[in-house]
Amino acid sequence: MRNMLQVCGLTKTYNGRPAVDNVDLAIQRGETVVLMGPSGCGKSTLLRCLNRLTEPDCGEIWFEGQAVHRMAGAELLAYRRRVGFVFQHFNLIQRLSVVDNVALGLVIAGEERESALAKAEAALARVGLGPTVYRRRPVELSGGQRQRVGIARALAGEPDLMLWDEPTASLDPMLVEEVLEVMEDLARTARAGMLIVTHEMSFAVKAADRLLFMDQGKLVEEGRPEEVLASPRSAVGQRYRKLWQKRYSLAGHNQGWRRILGAGAEKGGRSPVAL
Ligand SMILES: Nc1ncnc2c1ncn2[C@@H]1O[C@H](COP(=O)(O)OP(=O)(O)O)[C@@H](O)[C@H]1O
Ligand SMILES: [Mg+2]
Repeated sequence: MRNMLQVCGLTKTYNGRPAVDNVDLAIQRGETVVLMGPSGCGKSTLLRCLNRLTEPDCGEIWFEGQAVHRMAGAELLAYRRRVGFVFQHFNLIQRLSVVDNVALGLVIAGEERESALAKAEAALARVGLGPTVYRRRPVELSGGQRQRVGIARALAGEPDLMLWDEPTASLDPMLVEEVLEVMEDLARTARAGMLIVTHEMSFAVKAADRLLFMDQGKLVEEGRPEEVLASPRSAVGQRYRKLWQKRYSLAGHNQGWRRILGAGAEKGGRSPVAL
């Protein structure tokens, strides 16, 4: 089967230092891939290169057989419309209402206002937001609601690929869960391929088909989340494993792990691993 997204040798250098260093990556339609790594290792740069918000220095990006790295003008805009981007800081337009924020991209793409609004409302419904918020401004919402609007905006164009850059990292801890629930639901049901940068390990174990670790611009390890977290080979993976163990040692580590995997097993039919 052909990969939906295929990246080869992607490199981006800032001031003589590679932020993304010769990365190869493939994502299938419907696949959920979580990307983890320490701050500054190049995660955001990698995501931004994938829809060419940042121009890579070299490398190839293939999307359904099309050479994204060679695209320009209208062709590049059309590709970007197939890719939904969810930002850490939401990036909503403050003077527009919730529903107009979600519909804007569709209207710019030439969609009739009526049908753009209908799609925006459907996307808002998918993230659990109803008519009471349609006419509100972003400032009137909680952080969790704002990020759900950000997710609805990415969903509204029915993207084939969704890129998520630390979608819960700016949220008050009390609001993280509502966004993770939406993300889990989409990871389970959406037909889009997803590449999600997050430090939420329980989310990765529950929702990801594959977990990637990145370090100093390179992808250093990948595999099924429960397997790479159980026996990581890379230094970064080992640091995440320690963090995971610390987090669950209070509740009884194996118990915490099993509880998470129990929920994950519904999705992927995974069996718990002994740690
Ligand atoms: N626009 C930029 N100009 C210069 N350096 C940058 C720019 N964006 C990112 N970098 C550098 O590239 C490296 C990777 O950054 P980034 O992709 O933001 O990492 P992460 O998202 O993993 O925290 C860092 O060293 C960062 O300072
Ligand atoms: Mg980042």
